[in-house]
Amino acid sequence: MVRKAVLPVAGLGTRFLPATKIIAKEMLPVVDKPAIQYIVEEVARAGVEDVLLVTGMGKSSMEDHFDRRLDLEAALAAKGKDEELALVRGLSELVTMHAVRQHEPLGLGHAILQAAGHVAEDESFVCCLGDDFLHPESDFVERMVEAHERTGRPVIALMEVPDDQVHLYGAAAVEPTDRDGEFRVTHMVEKPDPGTQPSNLIMVGRYVLPGSVFGYIRDTPPGRGGEIQITDALQAMAAEEPIIGLKLDVDRYDTGDKLGYLQATVQLAAMRDDLGPDFLAWLRGWLAEHDG
Ligand code: G1P
Repeated sequence: MVRKAVLPVAGLGTRFLPATKIIAKEMLPVVDKPAIQYIVEEVARAGVEDVLLVTGMGKSSMEDHFDRRLDLEAALAAKGKDEELALVRGLSELVTMHAVRQHEPLGLGHAILQAAGHVAEDESFVCCLGDDFLHPESDFVERMVEAHERTGRPVIALMEVPDDQVHLYGAAAVEPTDRDGEFRVTHMVEKPDPGTQPSNLIMVGRYVLPGSVFGYIRDTPPGRGGEIQITDALQAMAAEEPIIGLKLDVDRYDTGDKLGYLQATVQLAAMRDDLGPDFLAWLRGWLAEHDG
């Protein structure tokens, strides 16, 4: 059973300065929830009960967000605001939240290694990166966990992107299996130079990994950008334990940069029953006026 998730969220969020000078980028709201909450809800839907945030200096607001806030709860209760009270209370009941610090930005592999004190070598865990989240009702992480439990193999999420975007990601070469959308990963490269990419399949920030990955990370020298890369550790692991790739078949919202963040905000607002109709009517009117 996979019951733990590790969320590396120590990044400085420089792409969103000055907003992220004080506020963690993962706390920026997409409509009315911070981005990190979508991710925690995503892993909770997959059966995760225990989440470890790998944070850094100035990012403790994420822990507070998932804690009780008794003064606010009392104020909401006194005013009979039951719906809001349930929303606030529910946050502390989603999962058991823990945090550990990554003291220095030495790479994603190094961030994940900070979980070694929390996840046993014979335990498996979900790892989700903080820059994107999947459709709020998607069961994709649950299906990754199911593939891991069925095969006993590490599982990574893959997505096809145009040629000129592959160099921004980890990319994978794969072979088909007899299951639709499920592949055997034969080779992985972190941010391949343009023209050298193994395929157009990139590694999205979703992994289901056995605790044995920590040993591989410890043996991984700094790679791309002088950082310890999880992709390099997985490449070493793939030589001994075949890795499974699952192709993403649900919407993904990339909140790691401004354009993706705006797109996510618009799409999620449009999908909401309470906001969508009014928001879209306004947007259509605004576009008609400004497009001439
Ligand atoms: C990280 C990983 C990369 C992956 C990407 C997904 O890169 O190292 O393999 O494809 O996340 O978003 P980063 O975006 O942190 O540079």
